[in-house]
Amino acid sequence: MAALRVLLPRARGLVLPRLGCAARRPFASGAHFEYIITEKKGKDSNVGLIQLNRPKALNALCDGLLMELNQALENFEKDPAVKAIVLTGGEKAFAAGADIKEMQNRTFQNCYTGQFLSNWDKVCQVKKPIIAAVNGFALGGGCELAMMCDIIYAGEKAQFAQPEILLGTIPGMGGTQRLTRAVGKSLAMEMVLTGDRISAQEAKEAGLVSKVFPVEKLVEEAIHCAEKIARNSKFITAVAKESVNAAFEMTLAEGNKLEKKLFYLTFATEDRREGMTAFVEKRKANFKDQ
Ligand code: HXC
Repeated sequence: MAALRVLLPRARGLVLPRLGCAARRPFASGAHFEYIITEKKGKDSNVGLIQLNRPKALNALCDGLLMELNQALENFEKDPAVKAIVLTGGEKAFAAGADIKEMQNRTFQNCYTGQFLSNWDKVCQVKKPIIAAVNGFALGGGCELAMMCDIIYAGEKAQFAQPEILLGTIPGMGGTQRLTRAVGKSLAMEMVLTGDRISAQEAKEAGLVSKVFPVEKLVEEAIHCAEKIARNSKFITAVAKESVNAAFEMTLAEGNKLEKKLFYLTFATEDRREGMTAFVEKRKANFKDQ
């Protein structure tokens, strides 16, 4: 146990698993998780797969799960072999939201002065691309978590909602902001004010998800997309991600200015030279992430 705590220095307070439990698998670094499963996937094992695995609570996002998710993201971010990440849940639920039982007795004072929600946005800080593969419920914090990812793929039975209004509260991790940017004011307002769910197909039509797949094909397709991304330069991919994300933070003029600088910056890389040379020489580019 002590050794595991050393391996997970940022996960103090984590409930460590009983050794030998079949449902819990070792992470590449040797760490074990209770609420998530991590694996490397893809032909070249260059896709980091994180599966939320708290099925009895429909993957409700309790503190322990969030801590483990952050640790897994950090591990994949540091792992040079991993070039993209897929985040998924189970067939019934991607995540049914923040853990209501954990939140039930919170007060304004301990929310405001404590660390509540302070560990939720690690997903947004990761430079490697993250694809959310959403089957089943993505509600409240679950929908917000998916929206923090870079791409959302949905299984055909997925349902998205921000039902916090029904609990006497409102979204707290970007639901009112990211949803509105993704689907526009009218649908976002309707979802936030009624708590109504939208289907995978409606989410696709509204621009919240980019593709819908049969339930059993979803994760495979997300890994396939991640592998496609992994074939490109890791460095240039991170730059492209930064530039797209800037569209959410800046005016058009500021965003275009940043994009131009980042575009120029690609000319300082070997991978930009290799990409264009490969085109001219009619061969496939061999990116070295430099
Ligand atoms: C804690 C949850 C939970 C949640 C489900 N469970 N959602 N526990 N927090 N968010 C638990 C239930 O208590 C139950 O455990 C078990 O999961 C199965 O759930 P059921 O309700 O029995 O399943 P079902 O009838 O199929 O209904 C599924 C459901 C419903 C429609 C998803 O569970 C539901 O409405 N859940 C709450 C969704 C929600 O309001 N999410 C927003 C949370 S607020 P037990 O042991 O009791 O049987 C939020 C704020 C984010 O996310 C803002 C800051 C991050």
